[in-house]
Amino acid sequence: MSFFDGIPVAPPIEVFHKNALYLNETAPVKVNLTIGAYRTEEGQPWVLPVVHETEVEIANDTTLNHEYLPVLGHEGFRKAATELVLGENSPAIKEGRSFGVQCLSGTGALRAGAEFLASVCNMKTAYVSNPTWGNHKLVFKKAGFTAVNDYTFWDYDNKRVHIEKLLADLEAAPEKSVIILHGCAHNPTGMDPTQDQWKSICEVIKRKNLFTFFDIAYQGFASGNPDADAWAIRYFVDQGMEMVVSQSFAKNFGLYNERVGNLTVVVNNPAVIAGFQSQMSLVIRANWSNPPAHGARIVHKVLTTPARREQWNQAIQSMSSRIKEMRAALLNKLTELQTPGTWGHITQQIGMFSYTGLTAAQVDHLIAEHKVFLLSDGRINICGLNTKNVDYVAKAIDETVRAVKSNI
Ligand SMILES: Cc1ncc(COP(=O)(O)O)c(C=O)c1O
Repeated sequence: MSFFDGIPVAPPIEVFHKNALYLNETAPVKVNLTIGAYRTEEGQPWVLPVVHETEVEIANDTTLNHEYLPVLGHEGFRKAATELVLGENSPAIKEGRSFGVQCLSGTGALRAGAEFLASVCNMKTAYVSNPTWGNHKLVFKKAGFTAVNDYTFWDYDNKRVHIEKLLADLEAAPEKSVIILHGCAHNPTGMDPTQDQWKSICEVIKRKNLFTFFDIAYQGFASGNPDADAWAIRYFVDQGMEMVVSQSFAKNFGLYNERVGNLTVVVNNPAVIAGFQSQMSLVIRANWSNPPAHGARIVHKVLTTPARREQWNQAIQSMSSRIKEMRAALLNKLTELQTPGTWGHITQQIGMFSYTGLTAAQVDHLIAEHKVFLLSDGRINICGLNTKNVDYVAKAIDETVRAVKSNI
């Protein structure tokens, strides 16, 4: 007899499961396009030079210690992160209507924000894009949301944002529903609404009294320019919207395992901030109590030291340029091979991922026959490509789509 008898085995988390399958694969040629982490041309993880230099400086700084940080986090980091996403000249900052809360990476910011909305504001209906990042629904359900619904995002036939259905789904959402929007570089589709489409989305959310929850996990990574990538969020702020924004520094600083994130909060009236922060302190106290300092110190120093910030800008530009080059290389090779189907979306999409349109059966074939590992919805991490393997991957896709017909 055990207290734990009868607990069913949960399904594996696909992205980690597929990554493990890749690592255990013994074939001499294999390609990993699964996990959402940057890889160099050599297929290796990258510690940004500016991050390494800053870490060394922190390690040598004998004035620092390992005392607890405040519950809401490292002051300088919270401010720098908020300024990064809203822009230093944001009206919300100038009018004292915004603040940051340090969280455990993007996931922790989503979780703290969701739990706050559910438990303090009694907002328990959320809408996530269909498709979306594999963890959104789980986070919101575990945080106390009783309904986590979909809004249409993707037009599978035409491989574009299905703006008409998206807007219709938002129109139909009950008021006070929480709408989760990807700030840039939508995961998994790699396709963002245009500026005009964002304006329409904002108009519906405002008119229907819905609540905006932005998730920005790839700021700077999408276009190479952090300001450009925050356009939609800043537009919503300019329209006077209240919102929370989960920010991750996993991808744009390469700090995946340090769990550095921020929840930026924008309100209409500074008078509500004291209540908000005190209740948020309780949410965090009951979760992780105090956040870790190492990553927050790095991000703070880099963002607030002009020379370091410039180095960081160069690093994100070099990452996003390499991704663009790999998109072009994959498309060129597929075009050269005259691979059946249309593939222009590979270079139209931005950020780390491409939503290839490959079916689950084609994905199985790619893994079984060619040892090219990707997610079953056809999402590939473009960073897994490099000049040495891109032709191999294109040929594998070409053989697969000829052998396994798509029924779309
Ligand atoms: C859309 C989206 N949101 C949030 C996250 C959170 O990532 P992390 O918790 O590692 O910062 C990710 C990571 O892949 C993501 O793709």
